[in-house]
Amino acid sequence: MKTPRAFYQPLAIGAPAPFREPPIKLERMIHFVPPHIEKMRQKVPALISQVDVVLGNLEDAIPADAKIDARRGFIQMAQENSFGDTGLWTRVNCLNSPWFLDDLLEIVPAVGNKLDVIMLPKVEGLWDIHYLDQLLAQLEAKAGISKPIQIHAILETAEGVKNVEDIAAASPRMHGMSLGPADLAASRGMKTTRVGGGHPDYVVLADARENEPRTGYQQDLWHYTVAKMVDACLSYGLKPFYGPFGDFSDPAACEAQFRNAFLMGCLGAWSLHPTQIEIAKQVFSPEPGEVAFARKILDAMPDGTGAVMIDGKMQDDATWKQAKVIVDLARQVAAKDRDLAEVYGL
Ligand code: GLV
Ligand code: MG
Repeated sequence: MKTPRAFYQPLAIGAPAPFREPPIKLERMIHFVPPHIEKMRQKVPALISQVDVVLGNLEDAIPADAKIDARRGFIQMAQENSFGDTGLWTRVNCLNSPWFLDDLLEIVPAVGNKLDVIMLPKVEGLWDIHYLDQLLAQLEAKAGISKPIQIHAILETAEGVKNVEDIAAASPRMHGMSLGPADLAASRGMKTTRVGGGHPDYVVLADARENEPRTGYQQDLWHYTVAKMVDACLSYGLKPFYGPFGDFSDPAACEAQFRNAFLMGCLGAWSLHPTQIEIAKQVFSPEPGEVAFARKILDAMPDGTGAVMIDGKMQDDATWKQAKVIVDLARQVAAKDRDLAEVYGL
């Protein structure tokens, strides 16, 4: 481990100093754009006002013969648009692919000053983060980039899950992590053919009772991994996210998967289809009734100590802290979304 002082030193002479306190940004949905398709690039100006993060996807789902067009398309969409407080991210190809190096060598000099976050797929351990960290510092220094580009890891291999705490601790450049259920299922040898969500056969069967049909209760395949990721992220001050939900014909299941992740501590999810933007916005903005109740707790305990009863429920320092999580998030949402600001009364 590096000493604390060395941990925050730039990794190349002339590179910007790493963030000690990363910028606070609302990132309820990371919206994926395939940048090699011109029609999709044309939608970016309208998207910027609808989503919290626009991500140009260069990795999986981009055909091998379109990889270079996707990279160029991303640079073009980054240059042509002004993103304001909407995040600009890219998902680059994985480290052992033939495209990763040129993704970095072309994108950072061209649009590094606009790029907030690089999403790195198939991260296995801290060595992957160290490599990208060093490379980014060299490229930032060479290109005169003024603020550090952050790294967001996709947690989508068995080895990555095993090493999740080391990955979280690897660099001050770490922004957060997303669960990648499709690659993770393959890497673990799970017997599924889906992108996220549940499975009808992953059930607990109720005990047998005479003359009663037995019911199977579907369980959440991702509970363990999301919990492990949330603990790793929050203990290092990073942001955890649920990743993709592939069944666009089932918005209810998408919403349920997103909501489980939200309740467990995640701050957003990927939107791969325009319909998922609204689902993510709804789920990852705290519910107005919860915000109102949380504000009552904060008002009743101005210094956050002691115990009070509200609507028959005991509140103390620990519920005050939970309430603060919800109200702080509601304030962030309200700063961006005037309609919700009014609903929250903030
Ligand atoms: C995302 O990249 C996934 O593999 O689920
Ligand atoms: Mg993947």
